Amino acid sequence: MKLTIYGGRRLFGDLTVDGAKNAALPLLAATLLTDDDISLQNIPDVGDVRTMIQILEHLGKRVESAHSRESYLIRTVEPPLSSAPEHLVRRLRASFCLLGPLVARTGLAQISLPGGCPIGVRPVDLHLKGLRALGAQIESLGNLFQAQTHKLHPAEIYLDFPSVGATEQIMMTAALIPGRTVISNAAQDPEVHDLARLLIKMGAGIMIEPGRLIIEGAPRLQGTSHRVIPDRITAGTFLIAGAIAGGDVTVHCQPLHLEALMSKLDELGFEIQEHVESIRIVSEGPGSYNGGRVEARPYPGFATDLQPQMMALLALARGTTTIKETVWENRFSQAAELAQMGAQIRIDGSTATIEGVEYLRGTEVRGSDTRAGAALVLAGLAAQGLTTVLDSEEHIARGYADLPGELNRLGADIIVEEEEKASEEKEVVGGRG
Ligand code: UD1
Repeated sequence: MKLTIYGGRRLFGDLTVDGAKNAALPLLAATLLTDDDISLQNIPDVGDVRTMIQILEHLGKRVESAHSRESYLIRTVEPPLSSAPEHLVRRLRASFCLLGPLVARTGLAQISLPGGCPIGVRPVDLHLKGLRALGAQIESLGNLFQAQTHKLHPAEIYLDFPSVGATEQIMMTAALIPGRTVISNAAQDPEVHDLARLLIKMGAGIMIEPGRLIIEGAPRLQGTSHRVIPDRITAGTFLIAGAIAGGDVTVHCQPLHLEALMSKLDELGFEIQEHVESIRIVSEGPGSYNGGRVEARPYPGFATDLQPQMMALLALARGTTTIKETVWENRFSQAAELAQMGAQIRIDGSTATIEGVEYLRGTEVRGSDTRAGAALVLAGLAAQGLTTVLDSEEHIARGYADLPGELNRLGADIIVEEEEKASEEKEVVGGRG
């Protein structure tokens, strides 16, 4: 996909964000814990969700779209298989969370090394530590992890880092193990708590304490219905879009999940209004706000998934900014692309230092992961002239249902071309030349 952005348009209006991709993915995985029907609403229509649905269908589920595009009924047509197809699993890291539910259901599970955005080494040691503590024997066979067990048992597990995926993996597995499992230093993200709410409706007992989850598993889990929480990362992306382009944008979302972003935007000098179910940002655009310090940390800290978009915003701030990334070790890929547009960014390990510039100029840039791609689109909104974001691997659509379409509805001017059309056009242009 190729996005061409005509910079300099202000954004006005309001929008409602879809359900959270990062909540929907583990919720879909959790449907493997029961043979009963599960109905899920507010599932976003993004690439990663479509891949997860394909994996579930391979594993014996039928995923029917009910009433509207965002509602699905997940039924069981065959007992779960033990292994998911490698070519699908490799497309997204969240697929690794299937290992626990599958071993809990079948006693044997095989999942290949997960893929996803290239933002770090992405080890799975905490997932494996948790599953081993619950009684699974795990072997790595080349690219494949195999987990098997005669009987799983509850355990007390301390995570060295509050990994979102490992917390979800352990919680799902423990939900199907009678007895009390405790996860200490658990991730506290809203998406983790959304999964806990589904598991409670399915019959598990889960107590949420600060940094700790206590799970009373059940021998059998039942069907239920659940609505996915709004996507805080999508909401944050649109708020930063309003900030960088200038204008007046209201995003209908769950403000409680965006406190770190709102507080940071307020500190930088934007007008932020928080309502019960929406956030409004009013901005005068580039040059009207200050630089500052941003540190991406586990929730409730500033979300790493909004760090690239923040970097684009701060490239046009007054003064100096430092951004420290503490979650992923390779999450500054947008910096070199922003530099092509005229941004002044110096990277030193996990810290980026940005000297704000007066303007960015449009050019051709490449998005190498979902959020870096979004960050470049936002930079294009404020840049002088034409910015072309090349997203040949469709990273942006993996995480956003329609980023360019929503921005256009707010007043942006973005043209989207599919890769084939884009390359056909290149040939025509080449022919003329
Ligand atoms: C989830 C989100 C992703 C977000 C991330 C951090 C989904 C589908 N994706 O990813 O968008 O950026 O949380 O908020 O929900 N780690 C280990 N060992 C492990 C697991 C993780 O060292 O076993 C490390 C990772 O390499 C990384 C850090 O922990 O440096 C965070 O990873 P984690 O919280 O697990 O992220 P994901 O669940 O993969």
